[in-house]
Amino acid sequence: MRLLVCGGAGFIGSAFVRLRQADHGDEVVVLDKLTYAGRRENLEGLDVRLIEAGIEDPHAVASAMEGIDAVVNFAAETHVDRSITAPDAFVTTHAVGTWVLLEEARRRGVRYVQISTDEVYGSIEDGSFTESSPLQPSSPYSATKAGADLLVASYHHTYALPTLICRGSNNYGPRQYPEKLIPLMILNALHGDRLPVYGDGMQVRNWLYVDDFARGIGTVLAHGTPGETYNVGGPDECPNLEVVQRIIQLTGNDDSLIEYVTDRPGHDRRYSLGSEKVRALGWEAQVRFLDGLQQTVRWYRDHRAWWEPIRSGDYREYYRRQYGTQIKGGRALS
Ligand code: NAD
Ligand code: TYD
Repeated sequence: MRLLVCGGAGFIGSAFVRLRQADHGDEVVVLDKLTYAGRRENLEGLDVRLIEAGIEDPHAVASAMEGIDAVVNFAAETHVDRSITAPDAFVTTHAVGTWVLLEEARRRGVRYVQISTDEVYGSIEDGSFTESSPLQPSSPYSATKAGADLLVASYHHTYALPTLICRGSNNYGPRQYPEKLIPLMILNALHGDRLPVYGDGMQVRNWLYVDDFARGIGTVLAHGTPGETYNVGGPDECPNLEVVQRIIQLTGNDDSLIEYVTDRPGHDRRYSLGSEKVRALGWEAQVRFLDGLQQTVRWYRDHRAWWEPIRSGDYREYYRRQYGTQIKGGRALS
């Protein structure tokens, strides 16, 4: 296939491109704005044409979609904490950007896959969300992602565009930007820095290894019914505190590194996704959480050249703003 992968220089997009080229030999065009989270090195060793532009740019989108069989849209602002302090880019990329992609896809009648998140359903105390659960997003991140999903659904309903929506649960694995829980805790633990746990640390996330999500998206792209939404949830749930304690063990540290900090405003307590529908298409998660976490710690240990430039660059300033005043002694990152 000839695929246009928007946001393909990010964490999950680049894992998807790697998998498609290894397993299917797809021809891939990546359209990516290369924000702080988008990195050229994520595409190293892959045979892709990279167009550096935003999905909200109609001219770039029109030329990127030339001769394409299907579009998979990963492009997004993805960090909930940043959406709380500066929501602007979330609205532009998720609402305007998704609309620009849909318009061009409609002009060409191209199959369109939107990558979405379990966070559009909000928080759930017991049980799991299905695809027909109501959308009750809590943060500017999840609200704008939900808006994008609704726009995608409207293009199927109104214009019969062959659209698919894939909602993943929390991903982890190699090449995740260290603002997110797991890589942040791994890198801090490797440096002996404090481990900032929000609130009581008993929030639960449904962990999905990134390659499992990438395969799930491939399954939906190949076998999904146009107009439908598919949840792709991980095999295991775990409270944040336990995730952090596992990372402490895997890096040879002790619990004294943990620092409880002020909770995130509007923090969702628990996510849980039911994935029966994508299972019926033949997908199954292959990586259990404790194995995947071990592999992820090993990857960060072995790939300092990937993360050292991040940790010594703009990320330091972000970290200082987000955590600096809360960490004992005022010393945020070593
Ligand atoms: P990421 O932050 O690592 O990557 C996002 C990519 O999008 C980056 O390469 C960035 O440069 C690019 N981008 C941002 N704005 C853009 C724009 N306007 N135009 C073009 N490119 C732009 O994110 P990720 O974790 O790989 O997430 C990818 C997708 O998967 C997102 O849509 C996200 O909502 C969804 N998702 C993520 C998770 C998770 O746990 N990380 C879980 C479920 C769903
Ligand atoms: P995160 O990786 O930001 O993903 P999301 O908010 O999209 O689920 O956070 C995962 C969980 O970890 C969430 O409950 C917030 C918590 N968390 C911390 O306790 N400390 C941190 O420094 C970060 C980044 C997250």
